[in-house]
Amino acid sequence: MIILGIETSCDETAASIIRGSRGKITVISHAVSSQIKTHRRYGGVVPEVAARQHVTSIIPVIAYAMAKAKLKPSDINAIAVTSGPGLITALRVGVQTAKTLSYAWHKPLIGLNHIEGHICASWLKHPQLKFPILCLVVSGGHTEIILMRQHGQYQLIGRTRDDAAGEAFDKVAKLLKLGYPGGPKVQVMARQGDPDRFAFPRPMIRDNNFDFSFAGLKTSVLYLLKREFHYKKIPSADVCASFQQAVVDVLVAKTIAAAKKFGVRNIILAGGVAANEQLRKTLSKEIKSELRGVGYIVPSLEFCTDNATMIAVAGYFHALKKDFSSWETLEADPNWELVN
Ligand code: KG4
Ligand code: ZN
Repeated sequence: MIILGIETSCDETAASIIRGSRGKITVISHAVSSQIKTHRRYGGVVPEVAARQHVTSIIPVIAYAMAKAKLKPSDINAIAVTSGPGLITALRVGVQTAKTLSYAWHKPLIGLNHIEGHICASWLKHPQLKFPILCLVVSGGHTEIILMRQHGQYQLIGRTRDDAAGEAFDKVAKLLKLGYPGGPKVQVMARQGDPDRFAFPRPMIRDNNFDFSFAGLKTSVLYLLKREFHYKKIPSADVCASFQQAVVDVLVAKTIAAAKKFGVRNIILAGGVAANEQLRKTLSKEIKSELRGVGYIVPSLEFCTDNATMIAVAGYFHALKKDFSSWETLEADPNWELVN
């Protein structure tokens, strides 16, 4: 089965074509047109600007992926598109394009949840993952621990009560004037810094639940810059390393505790913040020492941040169950939560 995936929920216009056969998934071609350069001058994503750029890029990106795959429309079995959550004007570009192709090419359509896409990226390298699986989803808008007992079944175990982990990275980068997108900039700075120099709080780490809170952590960074350094001669590398360690400590501690409680066989790390090297390394180390026999799956870097391959993979699982949407009724839903 050949699936075309389309993703336009934020600042990447992406298309991907995958082949799924008896559970094994291969990427035939994929293309991403990033808007980072455009949004950099504003210090963050401007929704209207993002949508306009998606309009310009979407057909060339799909045409490129189709040409690279050497496929004709008749070779495609289904079209999968992110229909939420995300920026409404950005989402609508992908959804309208997918609906148009579905109508014109007479192909089934699948409207997909972006977070489900992030999770499903793990099946690219590991087609036979054993359940139950615990997913730590960390992106710009989401921080959630999700339990999967089978494909397509998602149970919320914990979530952030305020800012998402990625949002905290982006806000700290802004305070330090490191630029956009913040997460990768903080990571690079942190490499030269001392993670023990500043004792930032580890919010909710000892609470008897699996929820998170990152807004206070950002405020601690703000107070430090104001009080101790009066915004001058800031040791940015040490601030980044200490902040990053605080975020990683909380994410890892809660994930390990949840994995023990629910007796899972695998742990998936997903979403843009899953690209963070310190998080990847620390979670791997803790799983090895605390959870013998539990597998650890994290997609390669290009499939952690937003991409259309993850949407095509999630689409493949829906297509297997003939779980299709209709081009007549599918609409973008900017607030669609995978789990409540
Ligand atoms: O999943 P994603 O690409 O888009 C959303 O669905 O939100 O995640 C974007 C988030 C941003 O907050 C970005 O700063 C963060 O992921 N991010 C990182 C890294 N790479 C991306 N955060 C920390 N370290 C990184 N290396
Ligand atoms: Zn994402």
